[in-house]
Amino acid sequence: MTANIIDGKAIAKQVREEVAEEAAALVATGVTPGLATVLVGDDPASHVYVRSKRKACAEAGIKAWDHDLAASTPQSELLDLLDQLNADPQVHGILVQLPLPEHVDEQLVLDRVDPAKDADGFHPYNLGRLLSGDRIVAPATPAGIQELLLRSNVETSGAEVVVVGRSNIVGKPLAALMVQKGPGANATVTVCHTGTRDLEKHTKRADVLVAAIGRAKAITGPMIRPGAAVIDVGINRTDDGLVGDVDFEAAREIASAITPVPGGVGPMTIAMLLKNTVALARRASSAAGSVLND
Ligand code: GUN
Repeated sequence: MTANIIDGKAIAKQVREEVAEEAAALVATGVTPGLATVLVGDDPASHVYVRSKRKACAEAGIKAWDHDLAASTPQSELLDLLDQLNADPQVHGILVQLPLPEHVDEQLVLDRVDPAKDADGFHPYNLGRLLSGDRIVAPATPAGIQELLLRSNVETSGAEVVVVGRSNIVGKPLAALMVQKGPGANATVTVCHTGTRDLEKHTKRADVLVAAIGRAKAITGPMIRPGAAVIDVGINRTDDGLVGDVDFEAAREIASAITPVPGGVGPMTIAMLLKNTVALARRASSAAGSVLND
């Protein structure tokens, strides 16, 4: 079997065009969706990601406010900036790029973002709503994976979805999404991690295998069930260039569908961030106001 390659770039383009239409509809009512991006420090990968996010905003008709802070910025200054952005009615979404420098308490920073402006869906309030099946925004990468599966007609209802990796950004929220009742979900979910005793036993059962480990080619051919859909979240810089968490060449001979790296999940993360921002702008402009009051 040679796997169908899931073209994340093309699907993300579709989503971005839809978002651009929604943004234009809001602009027509006098509201320009706005996203503030906060980048602290010199992490080269973060700079690349944030630049892509800002460019995508412009293309979708979302106004981007760029805040680039030195790595040495005191935590209090970062919190002050967030207070300022929380209070600014033109800012509908706020994104703080992770990771943050060591001297900054990441959770404290994520907690400080107004949940009504939480474009990444990382605030505990929004994670709680995701868990209870009443989501406003979902973290962009898991939401993008769900959208990829839906638009590629990969059945998740009743399927065994095995997620490898338990990060707060991908693994845990993806499990919460996939277990809900509804389209693109309703799956039997297993989350594997460094404490998992026999990883291959679990991955071999997966109808949908999601690799979010952060280690190049950690998922090898024999770990994949023939006919599985394989979603590769990894972006690892190696001497061979960018590679995913899956041994792509081996996997494509076994799986029925697979996302490439680059050009798979990555573009979807950006598309869903834009979608979240427009959704938050729409909510803010409707009479309901704060998400905490509804
Ligand atoms: N760092 C890695 N992925 C992400 C993401 O989706 N959002 C933010 N803010 N930082 C990240």
